[in-house]
Amino acid sequence: MAVKILWYLTTPDGPYPWEAEGRWNTDFDHLKQIAVTADRLGYYGSLLGSSPNESLAVSAALIDATKRLRFLVAQHPGEVSPAILAKWALTFDKFSDGRLLFNVVNGNDAGLATVGVHYPHDERYDFSLEYWRAFKGYYAGETEGYDGRYVKLTPRHAAAANHPLGGWHQPVQPAGIPLWGAGTSGPGVAHSVQLLDVYLSFANTPPKLGEKFAKVAAEAAKIGRTLTYGTRLQIIVRETEEEAWEHAERLLQRTSLQTARQSIERQLPPGETLETYVSADPQIQRNLDTIRAGRLPKARDLEIYPNVWLGPSLFGFNILGPAAGTYLVGSAAQVAERIREYEAHGTSAFILSGFPLIEEAHRVADLLFPLLDIDHGYELPQLAVKAKTLADDQSRDSKSLAA
Ligand SMILES: Cc1cc2nc3c(=O)[nH]c(=O)nc-3n(C[C@H](O)[C@H](O)[C@H](O)COP(=O)(O)O)c2cc1C
Repeated sequence: MAVKILWYLTTPDGPYPWEAEGRWNTDFDHLKQIAVTADRLGYYGSLLGSSPNESLAVSAALIDATKRLRFLVAQHPGEVSPAILAKWALTFDKFSDGRLLFNVVNGNDAGLATVGVHYPHDERYDFSLEYWRAFKGYYAGETEGYDGRYVKLTPRHAAAANHPLGGWHQPVQPAGIPLWGAGTSGPGVAHSVQLLDVYLSFANTPPKLGEKFAKVAAEAAKIGRTLTYGTRLQIIVRETEEEAWEHAERLLQRTSLQTARQSIERQLPPGETLETYVSADPQIQRNLDTIRAGRLPKARDLEIYPNVWLGPSLFGFNILGPAAGTYLVGSAAQVAERIREYEAHGTSAFILSGFPLIEEAHRVADLLFPLLDIDHGYELPQLAVKAKTLADDQSRDSKSLAA
C-alpha cells in the first residue's frame, strides 16, 4: 500500500500562529506561494479548511498557479444549492483538468444556522446525504432532478444540456468528485460510510486510530462499501531527533501559559474546571499539575507514544488527549517509521502541516518523501533527482569496473 501526502493551505501562517506575535499578516500572494510550493514539491493535494477566506473562491483563484496539486475544499451541505455547487465543480474541473476533491464537513450547528441551514445535529446528516447525492447526480449529468425529503430539484430539459448558453459541462472525473470527510458520532459514521470515498479523522496513536478506522470499515462492509482512510497531523521533521525536539521545545517556550489554560478549558468535560479536573492518566495528570503550578511541561513530557506529541498548535494545545492538533516529531527516519505504522493500521492519506507552511513543506518533502512509498500518480521531483543520481552512480560504477 502506498501513501498520499497533502499539505495545509489555509491562513493564518507564521512561525507559531497560535500566538498573536507568531502570526503573520498574510494576503492572497502568500496563499499562492504556499500552493505553488506544495505543487512544485509534489504534494498530492492541499486542504482548504473553513477560514475567513471562502475556500471555493481561494481554490478557483489558484488553479492557474498550479499544475498537479489537487484542492481538498471544505464544504458544508446547504451553503449553496447542490445544483449550483455541481455546476461550480464541473467548471472547476474543466479549468483545472479534474483537480477538485471535496471535504464534506458537518460540524458547527450554530454557524450553519447563521447561513440558513437549520437542522439539529443528527438530522443534518440525513439532509447532507440527500444534498451530496443530488450534487453527484448533477455532476454526472443526470437531468431527472432530485425529489427527496429535504432537497427538491425540478428535472432539467435533456435537450438543453448542450446549449451554448444554458448547457452544462461534461464531467472530467468519470467517477465523480472524490468525497472526503469526517464524523465521529453515530450519525456521523452512518453518513460517512454511505457517502464518502475517504474517511478522515484527527490523529491519535497509530493503534487507536487504526481501531477507529476498523470500526468504520466494519460499518461500511455491512452495506458492501470499502473506503480509504486519512488523518490530519502537525509535523516537525528534522535530520536528527535532537534537532526535532529542540524545535518542539522552542515552540513551547513561545507559547503562553494563558494559551495552554484556555485550550485545556475548551477540552474539559462540562462542569469541570482546570482546578477540579482529575485525569486517570498519570502523564496527563502530571502535565496538568505543572500547568496549575504556573509552568508549561517540557516537550518530551507531552510525547504520548513514540514521536506522537501533544504540543501547542494552531488547532489547540490538546494536553488532555489527542485532538485536532496532534503532532509527529522526530528525525526523518523516525517519522517515516511512524507513518508506516499508521499505514499498517489502515491510514493511507496524511494531511500535514508545520509552520511556517512554506519552510516546513520544503523540510517534509526534502527529508521525508524519499523515505516513503508515495503514490501521487506521477514521479515526484525530488525522487526523480535521486533516482537519476543513483542511475548515474551505477553507470559510473559499471564503467569504472569495465575499464
Ligand atoms: C481532517 C478534518 C478536517 C476538518 N475540517 C473542517 C473544516 O474545515 N470546517 C469544519 O467546520 N469542520 C471541519 N472538520 C470537523 C468535521 O466536519 C466534524 O465536525 C467532526 O468530525 C465532528 O463530527 P461529529 O459531530 O459527527 O462527531 C474537520 C474534521 C477533520 C477530521
